[in-house]
Amino acid sequence: MEQKQLIEEIIKLKKERDAIILAHNYQVPEVQDIADIVGDSLALSKHAANTSHKVIVFCGVHFMAESAKILSPDKTVLLPARDAGCPMAEMVTADRLREMKAKYPEAAVVCYVNSSAEVKAEADICCTSSNAVKVVESIKNKQIIFAPDQNLGSYVAKKVKDKEIILWKGFCITHKRVKVDEVKKIKELFPDAKILAHPECEPEIQALADFLGSTSEIIKEAREIPEKDIIIGTEEGVLHILRKENPDKNFYLLSPGLICQNMKKTRLEDVYLSLLNMQYEITLDEDIRLKALKTLDKMLEIS
Ligand code: 13P
Ligand code: SF4
Repeated sequence: MEQKQLIEEIIKLKKERDAIILAHNYQVPEVQDIADIVGDSLALSKHAANTSHKVIVFCGVHFMAESAKILSPDKTVLLPARDAGCPMAEMVTADRLREMKAKYPEAAVVCYVNSSAEVKAEADICCTSSNAVKVVESIKNKQIIFAPDQNLGSYVAKKVKDKEIILWKGFCITHKRVKVDEVKKIKELFPDAKILAHPECEPEIQALADFLGSTSEIIKEAREIPEKDIIIGTEEGVLHILRKENPDKNFYLLSPGLICQNMKKTRLEDVYLSLLNMQYEITLDEDIRLKALKTLDKMLEIS
């Protein structure tokens, strides 16, 4: 099918199914353009929790669609690309987290949303990259296990001085590809440019950035700063909206490695097939869902 026809079919099926299409900022341009909402993990969770539509088509990776199902159990939640997972989310399991909790019985567990429902069910509260500092500050315990992203965790540890943060050793394979040398080179090429980066980058990269934030916070910052040359230290999908919103600015990717293969798995055709065949539906064990829901609800209460 031609792209134009695919788009028409998606719009038609969306109405018939009473569906909403949510897409993460890292999705390919044509998927972002067909979506009802494009945003960061926090914004998409909020939309998933509050939508009145019967069906949620989640263009992102598995943990995001799963979070939507945790928050909206009565909706049918579809992940168009069945094998779109997040390698970071797989770096922590519920069993290993339980072992860590046994080792630090006084610690509260803060779980980055990039994790499975089973892992969330073992946590005290969830966070995203846009509210991690606020979430950690809201906790009374002095000791905190932060899982699974050690880079976001160390970013939080620098901001919240009165806590002992025990870092899980997980990381994003995409943001890990950025090398200090690449940052130095691009800074030489564009000496007046600002570097806006994601806290999933390693601490040495974070230290060289002018601004750190979630994907939507980066997009907002790029809109507001006066600089014409902006270097982006997160997955290349954000360039689509950045260039659309700021035609008079120049955006450069910090590293050619900033492409997440999993985020690129969803094509327009997958969105069409998802609505046509109602695939691939997310299902959850109710006991796990309820435990995971508590941690997401707590997060949404404070952000
Ligand atoms: P945010 O959009 O919340 O910044 O998430 C980044 C990410 O890596 C999602 O997988
Ligand atoms: Fe996971 Fe990183 Fe891809 Fe996000 S960008 S889905 S954290 S691998």
